Amino acid sequence: MTDVTTEIADPQARAEAVSAAWERLAALRAATSDTPIARLFDAPNRFEHFSLSLGDLLLDASKTSLTEEALAGLYALMRAAGVEARRDAMFAGAHINITEDRAVLHTALRDTTAAPLLVDGQDVKPEIRETLGRLAAFAEGVRKGTIAGARGQAFTDVVNIGIGGSDLGPVMATLALAPYHDGPRLHFVSNVDGAHIHDVLKPLNPATTLIIIASKTFTTIETMTNARTARAWIADAQGEAAVGAHFAAVSTALDKVAAFGIDTARAFGFWDWVGGRYSVWSAVGLPLMVAIGPALFADFLAGGAAIDEHFRNAPLEENLPALLAAVGLWHRNVCGYPTRAVIPYDQRLARLPAYLQQLDMESNGKSVTLDGTPVARPTGPVVWGEPGTNSQHAFFQLIHQGTDIIPVEFLIAAQGHEPKLRHQHDLLIANCLAQSEALLRGRSLEAATAQLRAKGMGEAEAQRIAPHRVFSGSRPSLTLAYTLLDPFTLGRLIALYEHRVFIEAAVWGIDAFDQWGVELGKELATDFLPAVTEGAVPPGTSGSTRGTLSHLRNLAAD
Ligand code: F6P
Repeated sequence: MTDVTTEIADPQARAEAVSAAWERLAALRAATSDTPIARLFDAPNRFEHFSLSLGDLLLDASKTSLTEEALAGLYALMRAAGVEARRDAMFAGAHINITEDRAVLHTALRDTTAAPLLVDGQDVKPEIRETLGRLAAFAEGVRKGTIAGARGQAFTDVVNIGIGGSDLGPVMATLALAPYHDGPRLHFVSNVDGAHIHDVLKPLNPATTLIIIASKTFTTIETMTNARTARAWIADAQGEAAVGAHFAAVSTALDKVAAFGIDTARAFGFWDWVGGRYSVWSAVGLPLMVAIGPALFADFLAGGAAIDEHFRNAPLEENLPALLAAVGLWHRNVCGYPTRAVIPYDQRLARLPAYLQQLDMESNGKSVTLDGTPVARPTGPVVWGEPGTNSQHAFFQLIHQGTDIIPVEFLIAAQGHEPKLRHQHDLLIANCLAQSEALLRGRSLEAATAQLRAKGMGEAEAQRIAPHRVFSGSRPSLTLAYTLLDPFTLGRLIALYEHRVFIEAAVWGIDAFDQWGVELGKELATDFLPAVTEGAVPPGTSGSTRGTLSHLRNLAAD
């Protein structure tokens, strides 16, 4: 096993440098915390100093409380923590996922260069190319109808059964790229709740439906349960012999795929160095490829590769993932904000917050460092969000006037896909900019009172109402702006967020690529199934759970 932690630098020296960098940041924050963010714009060219672009992709971080010194301090922190060395170790195929002793190479999936990439002494590129070719052939076959159902009918619908990373990436990307769909209709089943698969399958015709079972491990109880339900649905309608023609699978466990009865010609592998939440670039992206075709899927990969190239080569000061991470670290650790809201002003990015929740929270929701000792400061924040403008009419009240500061991340395209509805897109942009401006500027008591007076309100009433119409302002946000949500840009956005998570984890000294925190609940769920079906409550079960279980069992029997 490669010990990346000691490979990068002497741990003691690194810990001291990191600690000194944090102290400096705390001092910088203390010196400027009373300065409203809007005042920081008194300095010339703040927008230019606190934004970066790569082609048409702009990251504007100027509406935050970062100062030049603080930003420099954050880059110094990243350097002290060994971010660059760790980045290089990741791209080189080192086993930086130390608790699972695995390389982390989702980036290899989008690297179309001819250069070999050795993982444990073996070049992984030929296998990646071979799988991509097989995926493309299969996706094209399904799209053209040359790969068809048991009765020879072309597939009109494809149902992906998977959960977590085997669901969220394809769901998010398929919705995001809806204007590019020219293949069969896509549907997704993830929840073990029978309502999900029931409602998805109900309107579909088994004769023209392809089921893709996506599971890295091919053991996940939700996915395997739904897979068996789908299998029965096909078999009941068309007979057992039809099953093979209606299933495909994506997994790292191809032996288990075969044991389930799926033909190896329809099984697409990936590798243990692709984490579930980083797997949309792999065979897990098959539903997206079926929807938009292999050529546009290649554009999606190219978008990710463009950010990889930039992340690897640009100095931290000019590096978009580094700026995004700098803002994240500043807000989480220096300002102490526990959450961040992701608000795409892009309806087709409606599932991006959910996708980023897994990417960020499953990666960085950790309490121990690489060497197993407790972390010194808070790690991953709560990530949440919904598309704008809907969120303005739901929870923005709290973001503007609530007692917690919630940094917001806005995403906005210059162009929509509906040229005839340009006026609606203009309104969308206006709303997005207005929200970040309102969060920045706020409205003083004087301004609120004057506004009410101007509307003809009496003085006493104006004084009474005005405090309710005050906005503190100085509420931070950043904005990501791009031309159009196309496959290339979607790839760039996802890779940008991936590398942000990576940098933050490297600074915190945690393993962003394991997910042991999901295990306990899984184990207990297995233990509790006999309790639910037979009342056999496992020893050690709390009184609360016993009581609720008994209540549910009584109601179920009614
Ligand atoms: O929730 C835990 C997890 O292991 C995720 O990391 C993963 O994306 C998901 O379950 C699904 O796992 P699999 O692809 O193996 O079915």
